[in-house]
Amino acid sequence: MRSHLLSFTLIAAACAPTACSKPSESSPATATSTSASAANAPSAASPSAPQAAAFAPSMLAAFAALPAPSGALDDKASLGRMLYFEARLSKNHDVSCNSCHKLDGFGVDGQATSEGHKKQHGGRNAPTVFNASLHFRQFWDGRAADVEEQATGPIANPIEMASDEPRVVATLTSMPEYVAAFKKAFPEAKEPISLKNVGVAIGAYERLLVTPGRFDKYLAGDKAALTAAELEGLATFSQTGCPACHAGPTFGGAMYQKIGLVKPWPNAKDEGRFAVTKQDADKLTFKVPSLRNIAKTGPYFHDGATVALADAVRLMARHQLGKELADDEVKRIVTFLEALTATPAPALVAPPALPKSTDKTPKPDPS
Ligand code: HEC
Ligand code: HEC
Repeated sequence: MRSHLLSFTLIAAACAPTACSKPSESSPATATSTSASAANAPSAASPSAPQAAAFAPSMLAAFAALPAPSGALDDKASLGRMLYFEARLSKNHDVSCNSCHKLDGFGVDGQATSEGHKKQHGGRNAPTVFNASLHFRQFWDGRAADVEEQATGPIANPIEMASDEPRVVATLTSMPEYVAAFKKAFPEAKEPISLKNVGVAIGAYERLLVTPGRFDKYLAGDKAALTAAELEGLATFSQTGCPACHAGPTFGGAMYQKIGLVKPWPNAKDEGRFAVTKQDADKLTFKVPSLRNIAKTGPYFHDGATVALADAVRLMARHQLGKELADDEVKRIVTFLEALTATPAPALVAPPALPKSTDKTPKPDPS
């Protein structure tokens, strides 16, 4: 699994100092395109309607195929799948990972901000768990290193699942099936049931939730996998300068960027990564999200303020690149982004059978 990280790091490194961290310079994709206007972005916003971009194979250089995990559930991932659907990890037995990241709903909940314990809402939109394991950090502000570390966060978060380690350990220890499954998944561990190992098992499962689709088939040489309209859209996406930040196998997830880089973003309430580092340079800086399955994961942005993908595309061009897109350019980009929709194998995301509570299982607590 770590080999994914390696190839991902190479991609991130390939576009690091020049293109990706400074979108004002041309990305590897736009540099080889025929457009001069793309290379001048974002400072020189062009008022005249640009010509429809023509697809060139060199535009593909900024991207990469997703790895295709075998989908086989080993002992850790199979336990992780149970825990992913396990609402008894929450204080009131009513919230699981799947409540906010629905696996039959592209890994999101379709809400601007999610509902957790006692129907409380946090301030941020739930990103999809599909392909998240490939991101260089987790959360909008990157405060967790990987999916294993991330998974322990919501369980203890008072407005998400509102539990804590003693309660989680007591709950899982009360059901013999879980005791056996943890022993099998962590044969070396003295005390297999811990919050950390819950995270490790869920992380192992999440690493299988990768969604290669038609775009990856195209990269692998199947020229019929994308339509002419989708390739035209890819050309507009590239020529506009989007791959400066949205590149690699997940079209994002490889760097932090300021929201409103060229034109200030209206909502400056959430200061993003600044809350983690307290560095001025990190004010309003967020992890660039993945665009895989983006047509299915709205509402958009860290605050979920934008519902239509076309609006999100227009706002990105304006605020990140200083460009006003014409309606047909927005439409072309959306057509391309829709081609990034794909799901994991149905058997992998089907809810598993969960063990029955025993009289030792802590009772639901609505307080
Ligand atoms: C109450 C809703 C809720 C629950 C329950 C929840 N999450 Fe989340 N999840 C969110 C929100 C909101 C964020 C973004 C928070 C942030 O960035 O500060 C998030 C972020 C994530 C991310 C980061 C993805 C990325 O691209 O950075 C992953 C992975 C994830 N959650 C997995 C899980 C797992 C695994 C569980 C169960 C242990 C879980 N979540 C439970 C709402 C929820
Ligand atoms: C300078 C870097 C940068 C450029 C260039 C850029 N983006 Fe973004 N993009 C971001 C960041 C950062 C976010 C997250 C912003 C937030 O929510 O705070 C984002 C978010 C998005 C989202 C919402 C994702 C989600 O899950 O909510 C979409 C859609 C998107 N970008 C599309 C595009 C398109 C299309 C282009 C080209 C027109 C583009 N972006 C150009 C950095 C960039």
